[in-house]
Amino acid sequence: MSHQERGKLIIGLDIGTTKICTVVGEVLDGQVDIIGVGSHPSVGMRKGVVVNIESTVKSIEKAMHEAEMMAGCDITSVYVGIAGSHVSGQNSHGVIAVKNREISRDDIDKVVENAKAIPLGQDQSVIHVLPQQFHVDGRGGIQDPLGMTGVRLEAEVHIVTGSVTAVHNIIKCCNRAGLEVDDVVLEPIASAEAVLTPEEMELGVALLDIGGGTTDLAVFSENCIQRTFVLGIGGNNLTNDLSIGLRTPMKDAERLKEKFGCAIAAMINKDQAIEVPSVGGRKSRRLSQRVMGDILEPRMEEMLTLVNHELVSSGVKPLITAGVVLTGGTAMLTNIVELAEQIFDLPVRIGYPRKIGGVTDIVNTPQCATGVGLVVYGMKSESRSVSTVLEQKGIGGLARKIKGLFGRIM
Ligand SMILES: Nc1ncnc2c1ncn2[C@@H]1O[C@H](COP(=O)(O)OP(=O)(O)OP(=O)(O)O)[C@@H](O)[C@H]1O
Ligand SMILES: [Mg+2]
Repeated sequence: MSHQERGKLIIGLDIGTTKICTVVGEVLDGQVDIIGVGSHPSVGMRKGVVVNIESTVKSIEKAMHEAEMMAGCDITSVYVGIAGSHVSGQNSHGVIAVKNREISRDDIDKVVENAKAIPLGQDQSVIHVLPQQFHVDGRGGIQDPLGMTGVRLEAEVHIVTGSVTAVHNIIKCCNRAGLEVDDVVLEPIASAEAVLTPEEMELGVALLDIGGGTTDLAVFSENCIQRTFVLGIGGNNLTNDLSIGLRTPMKDAERLKEKFGCAIAAMINKDQAIEVPSVGGRKSRRLSQRVMGDILEPRMEEMLTLVNHELVSSGVKPLITAGVVLTGGTAMLTNIVELAEQIFDLPVRIGYPRKIGGVTDIVNTPQCATGVGLVVYGMKSESRSVSTVLEQKGIGGLARKIKGLFGRIM
């Protein structure tokens, strides 16, 4: 397949901890137009992992239906996102002798397969095998060695693995909602497709998606993925801290966070007062707005410091010259950019989905980056020969097998 057909529909399904978002993209000449969006609160997910299949299926169906109504289409298959602390990423290396001196597609498949041979835990399966670069007879920096002459072919790849059970549950939920799975994609890799610029990816950049249940990281430089990381904390921890600290119900804590929350306490005028509802039928109280920062700042600082520690300890911090791009709902917390710049000591910006057409105003938030990114990822993987071949050896192949296993139940 060399190019997309005109008007091909590609659907992204972001099953988040707090919301399920369906994005329908129409691909025309390599350009994506968003023609339908559906969003529904997520019930049945915890920290990015399915904990209740029935509730998750119902939420998926509602988000699907909304997107179908808007786009005027029937959705039959999706690119679905995955995250959760069961996911981990590592770099690996493979080497083979080239058969006939000229490197064939078969040789590329073989060297990648060789690099994929890493010890896996019993409950682990490969989600992605992402080639970083190839070396031919010791000469590196090669993106696609097809047709080159040499005797020794080496591949450097980034391998993302995840729990088989968690992956199967995601696929099972989709199947039960009447959907086939085109591929399972690590969420920060999808978000990166939606918001990063080619210059950032070349220069070195970290994509940090702070959602409700997880904080996901993907680091790119020289146009390759260098590192992925998922942390099992997110915006829900901030809401929880507020609920406990202010002794207020979770739903009020959530509302107060979105309206008055701030990542830097000193930026809040302490003379400003807010009304805080109480629990157990007690009267609401008036407190200084500064208290929001007093509670949120230390938790936000802790989360970002953990990410910074990961960047340093994995050795990729020096690579991210272009800085950090924030996505996910928590990126909308007031002054988060300033706090992140202090902690990372790098430029930080918020990532909005870019280079798309259609109903852009609806998806123009950092929260929609994963949903839009899944569509962009789907478009690229359907038009890219190398990646498609490799993906089939990862979870793409697994997804296809699973389709047959579960079938359409509902
Ligand atoms: N204005 C705001 N200020 C602070 N936080 C916000 C704001 N708006 C949304 N959030 C937070 O964003 C989080 C939801 O983000 P998002 O939709 O990206 O998560 P998700 O994709 O459902 O979850 P995950 O990716 O972790 O599984 C919630 O914790 C919510 O409180
Ligand atoms: Mg998310």
